[in-house]
Amino acid sequence: MDRPRRGRKHLIAMVGLPARGKTFTARKLVGYLSWLGYPTQAFNVGEHRRVTHGPGQSHQYFDPANREAAKQRAGIAEEALDEACRWLRGAGRIAVYDATNSTRERRQSIAERVEAEDFELLFIEIVNDDPAIIEANLRETKLRSPDYEGVPEAQALADFRKRIAHYENAYQTLEEDEGAWVRLRNRGAQVVINRVYGYIVGRVVFFLSNLQVSNRPVWLTRHGQSVYNLHGRIGGDASLSAQGAEYALSLAAHVREVFSPEAHLDVWTSTLRRTVLTAEPLGLQTGSWRALDEIHAGVCEGMTYEEVERSMPGEFEARRRDKLEYRYPRGESYLDVINRIDRVLIELERYRTPVLVVTHRAVLRAMVAYFKQLPIEETPHLEMPLHTIIKLTPTAYGCLEERVPLPPRVEG
Ligand code: F6P
Repeated sequence: MDRPRRGRKHLIAMVGLPARGKTFTARKLVGYLSWLGYPTQAFNVGEHRRVTHGPGQSHQYFDPANREAAKQRAGIAEEALDEACRWLRGAGRIAVYDATNSTRERRQSIAERVEAEDFELLFIEIVNDDPAIIEANLRETKLRSPDYEGVPEAQALADFRKRIAHYENAYQTLEEDEGAWVRLRNRGAQVVINRVYGYIVGRVVFFLSNLQVSNRPVWLTRHGQSVYNLHGRIGGDASLSAQGAEYALSLAAHVREVFSPEAHLDVWTSTLRRTVLTAEPLGLQTGSWRALDEIHAGVCEGMTYEEVERSMPGEFEARRRDKLEYRYPRGESYLDVINRIDRVLIELERYRTPVLVVTHRAVLRAMVAYFKQLPIEETPHLEMPLHTIIKLTPTAYGCLEERVPLPPRVEG
């Protein structure tokens, strides 16, 4: 897997009423595609408005009968689209255009523009007719928007509901003749796909159909110290050291403290002995994934870093220069790892019960980078100490990370 720099460029345009979760979905998508190595960026019309005209417009500003404001809003939407296209003409590969795009006419004009630029277009429509979901969206996101800074909660909610009503009056759902689109209804309870072909958009649709909106945390840890860790050797399938076996016990004790038996904790390991042995004292049923195995160091498996530097200085230097793209001879690169754990992450996104993943340093780096939406280049350099449990909690505004070191303390 090389970094996907070349190929068709895509404009993904969101469609939906305010407070349906478009920005959340756009953000997840940008995070996912960037993590896979596609240069991806979101272009949010609301943010453009706030930058150009300042925040805090009341609902009247969004009333289509307000001609002056409607002209201003159309101008801002066009500016954001211009910016997205400019970016795609340059270094960008996928632009996510985050706006309501709620009328057929507006979408038609986007389609014409995208065709003229020779990009590919995909609409993602987010539909919610469950009042509880809309209410939760309103409270979780809109109340915190700079548009309502300093406005009492009840007043902000009432104003935003009126803003939604203005859009509702003019809203037109996507129709079959509007090209490639996907409609997600009620947080993925129903997914409708229309004329979607090709690898990237196929991947987008698969990701979105599994995406859950939840604050369910994920627990991650490396295996306990292995005999190879003790000697500074990479790869292999070594057993745990005495200290590593002790960590397995601490981990089990910690998990029993945090989770009640009714929590139905799922435990996922790699297929390598050191993760399976680390999970054993938990006494829970575990699933083992080959996709969670450590980065394969190819001809360097079982060597120390010093041995690699001495016997293969060219390889050592190439990896030092570009750890993300460097592939061990007959082994893997970080980009390869990212692509093979993609399916584990999609499964994790879909899960509703708590999951503890016991895996390896490089794999954990890739997982943490995904959840925290970190720049891909940082992935191979993230600190991932042994004997530490990491709890990642997704929120509407990003992902909280807590790290709990557990005994015994070891290096590495
Ligand atoms: O040293 C432990 C280990 O998990 C090795 O098996 C693996 O090759 C390495 O860490 C990954 O870390 P880095 O990419 O920094 O070499």
